[in-house]
Amino acid sequence: MLKITCKMFIVLSLWFLLANNITNAGRILVIIPTPIYSHQIVFQSLCLALNRRGHELIIATPQPIKDSTLTNYTEIELSLSHSLVKQYKKNVPQLSLTDLLKLGWTLAHKISIPIYDNPKLKKLYHSNSNEKFDAVILELVGYPSLSIMSYRFNAPLIGIISMGIHNYHRYVFGSPIYSSHLSNWEINTLTENPSIWQRLWNFIETWHLIHFWINDFITMEQGLVKKHFGNDAPHIVDIIKNMSLLLVNENPVLTYPRPEQSNAIFFNGIHIQKTPPSLPKDLGQFLDNAMEGFIYVSLGTVTTCHTLPKKTLRNFVEVFSKLPYKIVWKFECDELPGKLDNAFISKWFLQQSVLAHPNIKMFIYQGGAQSTDEAVHYAVPLLGIPNMSEQENRVRRLVSLGVAISIKLNELTQERLNNAIHQIFNDKSYKEKMMRVSSLSKDQPYNSTENVIWWIEYVMRHKGANHLRFSDSDKPWYQRYDMDIIALFAIALFIMECIIALTIIQIIRFTLNNIALYSCH
Ligand SMILES: *[C@@H]1O[C@H](CO)[C@@H](O)[C@H](O)[C@H]1NC(C)=O
Ligand SMILES: *[C@@H]1O[C@H](CO)[C@@H](O)[C@H](O)[C@H]1NC(C)=O
Ligand SMILES: *[C@@H]1O[C@H](CO)[C@@H](O)[C@H](O)[C@H]1NC(C)=O
Ligand SMILES: *[C@@H]1O[C@H](CO)[C@@H](O)[C@H](O)[C@H]1NC(C)=O
Repeated sequence: MLKITCKMFIVLSLWFLLANNITNAGRILVIIPTPIYSHQIVFQSLCLALNRRGHELIIATPQPIKDSTLTNYTEIELSLSHSLVKQYKKNVPQLSLTDLLKLGWTLAHKISIPIYDNPKLKKLYHSNSNEKFDAVILELVGYPSLSIMSYRFNAPLIGIISMGIHNYHRYVFGSPIYSSHLSNWEINTLTENPSIWQRLWNFIETWHLIHFWINDFITMEQGLVKKHFGNDAPHIVDIIKNMSLLLVNENPVLTYPRPEQSNAIFFNGIHIQKTPPSLPKDLGQFLDNAMEGFIYVSLGTVTTCHTLPKKTLRNFVEVFSKLPYKIVWKFECDELPGKLDNAFISKWFLQQSVLAHPNIKMFIYQGGAQSTDEAVHYAVPLLGIPNMSEQENRVRRLVSLGVAISIKLNELTQERLNNAIHQIFNDKSYKEKMMRVSSLSKDQPYNSTENVIWWIEYVMRHKGANHLRFSDSDKPWYQRYDMDIIALFAIALFIMECIIALTIIQIIRFTLNNIALYSCH
């Protein structure tokens, strides 16, 4: 009898578990338009993990994975104009960061226009369609107009970004903006202890960019919404203000700590494979034989041999050829500008597998977010060669943690490169500190992927997270940041000083007049 009850109990519990799983399964629309591999890889990993949990996903992306074995995983391929991306990449080295950000938004707007005309997506959002979603996840680096989908489907909006939170997000959410803090990478020059004039300039640059976003960019984007959803559509800034969560792919150990809004959920390392795939045979042998250690070199997908100055490339080859170590170099052009016997050259590497190899001694890279995550995971010391403020800022933080050396791309000389490589090879502290940073970032109370999934399910369970919304985000900026109080004080002080000055002048005048009067008589 007891046995039967026990069995029944197990069957019942199992049934309950399964049923529970099914009732929790949600239907999620995911829109990730940025055609950059390092952005896509993070979001794909998250989508796959959500799918494994039993959720149904419809994903609009320019880089679908097209895996027919997946169920409830529908991909809508966004056509993208490669010429747009080329235009961006071509301008990267020439423009200042603030101008580059503006160009990026303008291009993102151009990427958004054909997304509304995508036939499959159009069928989904058409007013006659009966499609229902429990959440809309949107990549929020430059496509604010698409947040209208959350209004269309009456589903909570979840933003996701694969870099730090931008100041315009903070402005919309009403969180503090620190224009001169080292975490603010959206200005052209950041220094540790800026003078008051530098701070004034940082302030102007920061607020100018926010002003451009709100006044120029959002106006353009709202126009797009008007075109497809009519004049009654709500304002996209109001929709974004009501966003339930902002998922931020950033490792707090590797950034400058600063206060953010309470619905920002940080995650990292989602794209890092538990066991990286095994290396191709020839490369595997090459690395196994690197008894003195090897250096892995990859400057990412934006900075390539096509965009690098010829002189810089020659400097690399010159320095590498004299090293007693082996080199593994991701190099996209057909020919090296010089002879290199100790190197394995390829257009593409299984980066995580290379970083996981025990003979690796250092990684020379551009300071990209995903590469940093991977290097920290495998505790590989870094030589950062940043060429953009965001990368420069990331590498600056790594240098302050003692795990990297930084050489700006336009300041790279053979001597500097050579010295930096030898310093990392000879000074053990880089590796030791990297191992500490690595264990710090792995020491978390929860699995980062599972935490993000929990939050997404939380939002679906409760149909949004309005209770986390910061109510002051509706107040004008001068009230929020108490600028009107400061102005009031300044004016009051000025008036008081004027009155005092006038009084003193009157007294002096009176006295002088009297003295003159007495001396006459
Ligand atoms: C697909 O998702 C729906 C919910 O949208 C769910 O009811 C169904 O069981 C899922 N199918 C599979 C095979 O997981
Ligand atoms: C945003 O949320 C507030 C408070 O819940 C609500 O009154 C408002 O209509 C929402 N706005 C939009 C555009 O969804
Ligand atoms: C990026 O590199 C190019 C070539 O060295 C240089 O002209 C440009 O100033 C660099 N940009 C930054 C932000 O350092
Ligand atoms: C975290 O959780 C995900 C999803 O359950 C799993 O695939 C991944 O391997 C886990 N990561 C670690 C480091 O355990």
